Amino acid sequence: MKTRAKLQKMKENKEKITMITAYDYPSAKLSQESGVDTILVGDSLGMVVLGYDSTIPVTMEDMIHHGKAVKRGADDTFVVVDMPFMSYHISKEETLKNAQRLFQKTGAQALKIEGAGEVLNTIEQLTHAGIPVVGHLGLTPQTVNVIGGYRIQGKNKKDAEELIENAKKVEEAGAMALVLECVPEPLARLITEHVSIPTIGIGAGKFCDGQVLVFHDILKYGVDRLPKFVKPYGNANDWFQSSITQYVNEVKDEVFPSKENVYEMDEEEIPSLYG
Ligand code: KIV
Ligand code: NA
Repeated sequence: MKTRAKLQKMKENKEKITMITAYDYPSAKLSQESGVDTILVGDSLGMVVLGYDSTIPVTMEDMIHHGKAVKRGADDTFVVVDMPFMSYHISKEETLKNAQRLFQKTGAQALKIEGAGEVLNTIEQLTHAGIPVVGHLGLTPQTVNVIGGYRIQGKNKKDAEELIENAKKVEEAGAMALVLECVPEPLARLITEHVSIPTIGIGAGKFCDGQVLVFHDILKYGVDRLPKFVKPYGNANDWFQSSITQYVNEVKDEVFPSKENVYEMDEEEIPSLYG
């Protein structure tokens, strides 16, 4: 299993870090068997698995339930679990309690939280308590209603400088890595050079120390429109639909089940319904 130290070494050796999201046992198992360095149980599960239109409805119970399943499928992979909306904002006590539950119950290797500002204290407190933290800057979906939509961040000098400063603060607060979402490639490059912890980009260009994509996006599984920064490597939608359609047709046409799919019994053991 990768460790915090190994991931840090990868940055220093300029070896790219791979991360994929997973939400359940099979997606985690397949990801581990495919050789990813790290898995993120993202709160994107709200959208790609639970059918919500944002990450905001996702609860602690959802993250624990899915995080446990992922860890069962990928017990030999470094797993990061997202703390969900408002689970780290109400009070220090509540934040620590939530983080403890999420970390202990899932068996994750780290937790991820979005933002800087007041969240910097939280990064420090969790790290101090023994929970490795991954930061998340740029487009932070839990604050989508404040930032005014899912759009690229840090496009002008003022915002770009603020993002660079915040990245440094996240590092100084003790984060072990930083996810950069939807920032222009040159800015993500600057941040990656400016901080000593690994940056993991999504829609942030090729100069980040690692890349993360959503499982369902990579496979085109249950999603129709993909953002520009996603490259699909398969088409699960087509494969699932053609397989399921064929199953339905074969049942209707009495092609399935056929001889290979049924259990036989000896003729004399078959009871007669009519005496
Ligand atoms: O929830 C998620 O999938 C994420 C990634 C997009 C980084 O936070
Ligand atoms: Na997330």
